[in-house]
Amino acid sequence: MSVTDPERLREIVEEICDAMTAETERGRVADYIPQLADVDPDQFALALVLPDGAVIADGDADTRFSIQSVSKVFALAVALGRVGDALWNRVGREPSGDPFNSIVQLEHERGIPRNPFINAGAIAVTDAILARSEPREALGQILQFVRFLAGDDDIAIDPAVAKSETASGWRNAALANFMRDFGTIQRHPDKVLGTYFHQCAIAMTARQLAHAGRFLAFDGSLSPGGSRAIAPRMARQINALMLTCGHYDGSGEFAFRVGLPGKSGVGGGILAVAPGRAAIACWSPGLNAVGNSHLASIALEMLADRTGWSVFAANS
Ligand code: DON
Repeated sequence: MSVTDPERLREIVEEICDAMTAETERGRVADYIPQLADVDPDQFALALVLPDGAVIADGDADTRFSIQSVSKVFALAVALGRVGDALWNRVGREPSGDPFNSIVQLEHERGIPRNPFINAGAIAVTDAILARSEPREALGQILQFVRFLAGDDDIAIDPAVAKSETASGWRNAALANFMRDFGTIQRHPDKVLGTYFHQCAIAMTARQLAHAGRFLAFDGSLSPGGSRAIAPRMARQINALMLTCGHYDGSGEFAFRVGLPGKSGVGGGILAVAPGRAAIACWSPGLNAVGNSHLASIALEMLADRTGWSVFAANS
């Protein structure tokens, strides 16, 4: 049976937080975006938002971090809201089994990225949002949507991180140019990349991220029966993609160990979803070999184990 008692959940969260704070093996902070290389790896946060809106948070849950690829979830929701199922003409829905920044499948598959969460797919999603807006407007829409989901206007883009990636994102530039040649993206690659880098540079706390993830835990609404953010069908589709593709070539392992939809970012954040139970944000900057937070992955496994939350359990 799954745990729902808030007091017991608080004990579990505190126990996990204590264990993760004491860990000495913390993974390696991403350094291919120079601004992220300076982040202190000795940080850890875990935050849950329950169906009644109660928050259980511990550790550095009020410290902002760069959400990076977690932003791909929000951009996907915006793009689906705008162009609907036509989005799937330019991006697939299959796990790639390759690293997040890989180019290798793109040529074989005629410029159509495997899924919206690898970098190529996310760049194609951002281009779809740009079909009817200029970069500033598109970014404003993504940011406004995140603020609405979190119920918090104090969420912003970190300009130093965006600038840092703009100056070093050669691999993403290669992906964008390659897809422009195939016609997968239609706007100029520079415009698409500028928008994508800024979207990835959204900074928020674990507490804010857990709030922003509620719509996925509650069938598209901010709470059970509350304000609707997206259609229930769309929330389920996004959860399915998070489960199968949210951790790149570590997605199978995450599904096996944690059993919940999740989306990671190289800033060390993971947004996970226990449908009907909680929206969960976990953060620790050190990454494992496939670019997902080392300690956040372990912490979410502990959380799933202790709560019984799993999309595969009869009574989850
Ligand atoms: O495009 C990039 O490489 C980064 N802005 C985002 C990559 C990322 O977060 C991958 N996640 N684990």
